[in-house]
This record gives sequence, C-alpha cells and structure tokens, in this order.
Amino acid sequence: MRPHVALALVAFAGASLAAEGAGATQITGRVRDASGRPVAGTMVSFSHGSPRHVVTVLTDEAGRYRTPPLDGPSPWSLRVRKPLFRDVQREGVMPAAQEQSALDVTLERETDPAEIAAQLPANRWFSLVLERIHDEAEREELVRQCAYCHQQGSRYTRLPRTEENWQKVLALMARMGGMIGPELRAALPSLFNETYDPKTAVPALVARLDEPGFVPEPAPEARRAVIEEWEMGIAASMQHDVAVHPDGSLWSVDQLQDRLTRLDPSVAGGAREVYEVPRGDLPLGGFTGGRAVLPPNANAHVGPHSLQMAPDGTIWLTLSFGNQIAGFDPKTKQWEIHPLDEGLYPHTLRFDSRGRIWFSVAVSNHLGMLDRKTGEVKTIRLPAASWSQELALRALPAFFWLARHVELGELPAGEGMSLPVPYGVDVAPDGGVWFSQLNQHRIGRIDPETLEIDMIDTPFTGPRRLRFDSKGQLWIPGFSSDLIARFDPKTRAFESWRLPTVPAGSETPYALNVDRRTDIVWICGTGSDSLLRFDPATQTFLTLPLPTRVTFTREIDFDDEGRVWTSNSNLPTWQVEGAYPRVIRVDWKPDAASPARAAAQ
Ligand code: HEC
Repeated sequence: MRPHVALALVAFAGASLAAEGAGATQITGRVRDASGRPVAGTMVSFSHGSPRHVVTVLTDEAGRYRTPPLDGPSPWSLRVRKPLFRDVQREGVMPAAQEQSALDVTLERETDPAEIAAQLPANRWFSLVLERIHDEAEREELVRQCAYCHQQGSRYTRLPRTEENWQKVLALMARMGGMIGPELRAALPSLFNETYDPKTAVPALVARLDEPGFVPEPAPEARRAVIEEWEMGIAASMQHDVAVHPDGSLWSVDQLQDRLTRLDPSVAGGAREVYEVPRGDLPLGGFTGGRAVLPPNANAHVGPHSLQMAPDGTIWLTLSFGNQIAGFDPKTKQWEIHPLDEGLYPHTLRFDSRGRIWFSVAVSNHLGMLDRKTGEVKTIRLPAASWSQELALRALPAFFWLARHVELGELPAGEGMSLPVPYGVDVAPDGGVWFSQLNQHRIGRIDPETLEIDMIDTPFTGPRRLRFDSKGQLWIPGFSSDLIARFDPKTRAFESWRLPTVPAGSETPYALNVDRRTDIVWICGTGSDSLLRFDPATQTFLTLPLPTRVTFTREIDFDDEGRVWTSNSNLPTWQVEGAYPRVIRVDWKPDAASPARAAAQ
C-alpha cells in the first residue's frame, strides 16, 4: 500500500480563529498505520515560504496532532516522520482560510533495514566506531576533537573512502583544528571504512529492532511540544549562537559571513533583518592572516561567534577572528568596536551585575573583561597545564604575525599542541567569574576585583558551556563524557548524571542553560538531533527529538514565555538535512501558553 494523505482538509464550520489574524488556520488530524492503529510520537511538520519556516508538532497516544494557528502565505508543505515508518511528503497543502482543517495521514512501515538504519541519528552510527576503540583516552580524544564542528556518523561523514582520500580529509580536519594523535589517526581510515560499511553497520544497528525502546518513544510531555524552525542566512552561513532580545526578537551570529541577524518570530513566516559586522581592513580569516582553513564560500574576516543582550537592549558580540568585542545598538544601528589588548579568539561572553563583559579567549588561554563605562579592555592570562604548553601559548602571537607577513608554507597537520582552550563563562551570584578549560578538564574562578585565580579539576572530561542556576550552583556539560554535572562552589562537590541518549555513552552535550525562573536545565543533544531537559527536583530527563537530521546545537536561550531557543550550526552546513542553517524555538508546554495563544485555542 502506498502512503497517502487522506481527507484533504475538511473545514470545520464556525471554528474561526480571528484572534490570530487573517489566514491563521489550525490543522488537526490523526496519524495511523496501515492497519488503522494510531502512531504516537509522530513528527508532523508544516513548512512554507522562502527562506522556510517549519512548524512541527507530535502526535499523542491516540495518534492525534494539532498545529498552532498556521499563519502566512499558503501553500504549505507537509512532512510526516516517524522512525520505522516511511516519511510522507506532500506539497501544496492549502488550508482553508480562517478555518480549522483536518488532515489525516496513513504511514507505511519501513521494512528495509538499510533505510531504518539511515533514519537513526548520527550518534547511533558513531557509537559503532567508539565501541571498537578500546583505549579510553583515544576514544575521548576522538569525541572531543572530531565532534565539535559537525556530527560524526552522519550520512556524509560515513561514506566509504580510499585510504588516501581519508588521509586528505583528516589532514584538512587537522588544519581546521580537529587534531588527533598519530596512532589514532593512522587507525581511523580502516576503522571508519570497516565500521560504516553497510554490510556490518546495518545489521549491528538494527539488531535490537524488535526490542522495546529501540527508538525511544517521546514521553507524553515531550509530545505536547511545538517546534519551530526558521531558515536564517544563506546556505554558506553558520549561525553559531543565538540570544533572545528583551523585545522578543531572536538574534543570531553568522560566523562564516560576518553577519548579525534579527528574526521577528511574531511576523508570519518570520521577518529577518541582516546587519553586516564591521570588518575594518582585516583579511579573510582575520588575525590568522589567511591561516584559518575555512569551509568553501566562507567570508569570515571577523567571525562573530557569540552574543549577549545588555540590560539596555544593546547587543554584544565576540569577534573570534577579529580579536574584538563589538556592540550594536538596534535603535541607532550603530556599532562600537573594542579591540583586545592581547589574546586570540574571543569566544563566549557574559555580563556581570555591574554591566562589565567577561569573555573567554579560547586560543591564547586568556579571560577578558570589557568595562563598558570606561571602555577599558583587560585580558588575564589563565594557567596552562605545563611549561611547554605555556611556551607554545606565548609563541602564538609571533606565529600569527609571521603568518601574516611571511609565506610559511603548509602548516603541519595533526602534530599540533593540545591547548587548554578556555570555553564557557558564567558569573556567579557572588560576582565570581567562572570558566572551563575544555581540553584540560578543569574549571576555574577568577575574582573580579583582585583577579585571583582558583583552578579546580573536573572528575570528567570536556567541560564545555557552563551556567549557574538561581541558587548559585554551577551546571556543566561534559562534552566527551556524556554527562551533566552540578558543582557546588561552597562544598566544592561535583554530582553528575549520565545523559539518557541511546546508546549509553554516545551523547556530546555542547552546551546547557538553566532557566533561572524554574532552575530546569536544558541540554544540547548535539550528536542525536535532540534537546534534553533535566529537572533537578525530580532528577529526571526528558528527551525532545528535533525534526531535522543533523541538528547540531551549541547554545540555548529562553524567551519571556520560557520557550527554548537554539540554532542548528553544524559546520559545514551542507551536511544538514536541507543544507540550510536554522534557528529553532521549542514551546514545550503550549498548554500554559501566552494569553494570545490560549485565547485562540
Ligand atoms: C574545525 C571544525 C571541524 C572539525 C574539528 C572536524 N571537522 Fe570534519 N569537516 C569540517 C568541515 C568544514 C567539513 C567540510 C569540508 C569541505 O566541504 O571542504 C568537514 C567534512 C568532514 C567530512 C566529509 C568530507 C567530505 O569530503 O565529504 C568528514 C568525513 C569529516 N569531516 C570527518 C572529520 C573527522 C574524522 C574529524 C576529527 C579528526 C573532523 N571531521 C573534525 C569541519 C570540521
């Protein structure tokens, strides 16, 4: 039987949704299998416009779904997706204006094991590789060095290649920053080829097909979520981080195109505004003087990386290749640029209660501070792990100066020094500034007045983007250790929780954020196309699957209604399903929605 879409849009009389404005239509329906049984947890996605806006809802236990009012230019495209079933696609869905419409769908079971395996998120494939690496340190290194730009195990990364071609790819990855030790590097080509060969991978991936939980069912609470995605930028963009503005708009930074983008999600389909970040006379690759190996079509001279909103509504960015902090006033559209006095690659920034900006400086191992009142920029050298590391760090500015002025030839690939890499930053309620050193598995605190530094080893690897909750507890994702941890600055005790992603040990949480109104922790399911929610009160996780394959997330923010925002910033973008970067909003409890939406229901 062919999959089909039944009951094309029967209009319900009298269900006018005028409160949401003309043309807003709620679509409801049921998803069943060929024998008529309801299929719960199906992702039903409606998309429209160019660039696209995609609205996804999930079916309940009776297979029912209901979209929020769909606003904007018809027609819509429909995609219905549930693992172990074939996708249903339909173009030209024309909801009757001002009405509630019904649209039922019948799903056909997927029986081809290769197709079932292809439906699984990248982490399932990558875990087959990790299982074959018996040295724990090597396994950790592979995860930490290879899974921070793009997912490993996704369709394009698991293609078979000749040894020579793999060596070329690995050399390219190393020049971009994905450096791994020589032994592991030598083993990777045959390891990847053997493990990802469909002849071995597919049977391994579908071995437990008949067991419950083979594909975890979204919990009832997750099935109530409304997930919206807006395409942002151009195909060659990379929307690294997002932040919500007090006016309700969403801003994101395009690191590869030197742009700051505003999305007004209240306009049908999303209204986008693009602002060019000033480049001065910096060359492509900024301070690296062309040394940064960038993806084709990248146009990054200053490379905006992260952004935060100041209490006065101005927007502050780290310019990673520009070695600057930039401020943008959305009212006057004016920029102010503050160059660093020293240090390379400003990274993540946070405000303290006095309005000063603290930021990590990733490559050169500094922490920086910009005092907006005086314009003073200070950079503080953080402890290295060894003398040789310290020497290498101190040689970096000279190296990049030389790189700009002298032809050095090809950089050596793969034998690079492992640097500490200060990463996440957050300010504690007592004003202390905390940061992580990703490769050194430690965190630190700097006293904002005395600048005294206190370093603490983490009992896990890969501490990445950390955040405080309302009570001053520090939450840390372990990128290469598949966990989140809570650190109590008073007792200095760590407590940790393994992530629920299957298979165990395969998640790579890049960032987390704590909604300080509830102290609920949201975590990037970076390797598995998901967002994870952790409630510290009950110590339980909830997994929300995201609709786009290869959704690689790096930052989380919340709007006034507690909705969760993130972006799909897989680098390169062309590996993402649809090959276009997106910003994502999750309304995980639309029942407690805004008065406007409640009135419309
Ligand atoms: C600094 C970011 C970064 C890191 C780290 C990184 N990659 Fe990549 N990777 C990329 C980019 C960008 C591309 C696309 C390159 C292009 O289109 O030229 C890519 C492409 C690939 C591809 C597909 C190549 C193709 O031709 O289709 C594979 C496979 C891959 N990476 C594997 C790895 C492995 C293995 C590691 C760890 C050693 C790694 N990557 C680390 C950025 C990265």
